[in-house]
Amino acid sequence: MKLFTSVNDVTDIKALAAEALQLKKDPYAHQHLGKNKTLGLVFLNPSLRTRMSTQKAALNLGMNVMVLNVDKEGWALELRDNVVMNGTTVEHIREAAAVMGQYVDIIGVRSFPGLKDREEDYTEVVFNKFVEFCGVPLVSLESATRHPLQSLADLVSIEELKTRERPKVVLTWAPHIKPLPQAVPNSFAEWMCKADVDFTITHPAGYELSTDFTQGATITHNQDEALADADFIYVKNWSAYEPYGKVLPGNEEWMLTNDRLKITNNAKVMHCLPVRRNLELSAEVLDGPNSIVVHEAGNRVWAAQAVLKQMLEAL
Ligand code: CP
Repeated sequence: MKLFTSVNDVTDIKALAAEALQLKKDPYAHQHLGKNKTLGLVFLNPSLRTRMSTQKAALNLGMNVMVLNVDKEGWALELRDNVVMNGTTVEHIREAAAVMGQYVDIIGVRSFPGLKDREEDYTEVVFNKFVEFCGVPLVSLESATRHPLQSLADLVSIEELKTRERPKVVLTWAPHIKPLPQAVPNSFAEWMCKADVDFTITHPAGYELSTDFTQGATITHNQDEALADADFIYVKNWSAYEPYGKVLPGNEEWMLTNDRLKITNNAKVMHCLPVRRNLELSAEVLDGPNSIVVHEAGNRVWAAQAVLKQMLEAL
């Protein structure tokens, strides 16, 4: 594997999830692969889980790791071509990405959407510049439209904890006060559409995701109907795709509570984190026996390790 930016970069997602679970049982079995190899983790936005889990995954494989928080420590990057750089930007992404590629064997990049210009975000302008200029294998640490390491960890968690062969998995929109990207729900949807699950998406009218990510899913505005008999509920807020990046008024009643869990098949509750308690997800659910959010975050290590292992094997 030389590129991991979406589910389309994976030939067999079930096998990759199985590999992650095997690595969970024996984390240090492949340390020879990473000897004298360096992973560079480049963040244009904040992170807790992605940074620490990917770093841990690389260390388990015997790699060295370098982290650069470009948003706080790097030069201000220019992304546009054919401009006179007489403003606030100091270094062009062409040189910056190419130089980073001189120091590392594999690079990971996080770059969130601006949520102002849908075309710019959905054509992955920043991300594709890194892919074009870095010259080394690249793993997404979350782009403007996708978060594949999160989605793989989510699939790993479902495979690990499912109690029936083809579980019912529901992605439900949840309230928030700020406009959040569609990257996590887009990505979760496209992975679930390829997984061996019965997949439903539920959200208020106006929060339709791009159909590029939801082909094969059942989609409904009726949350109770969606939650009935669910085995896994994936809770997540996202801003509107149209009008792009907007928070629509109302819909506070969409927050998941213990009362709503009664109509499920004792569903396990997932969230990528970070989560705002009692706004996006109730504390009673987060602190209750159905929540697997911390377990899910723990599986981020094995998801990242499975991807890095395949990249190291292809070097
Ligand atoms: N879920 C996730 O990606 O968490 P971070 O933003 O903290 O990395």
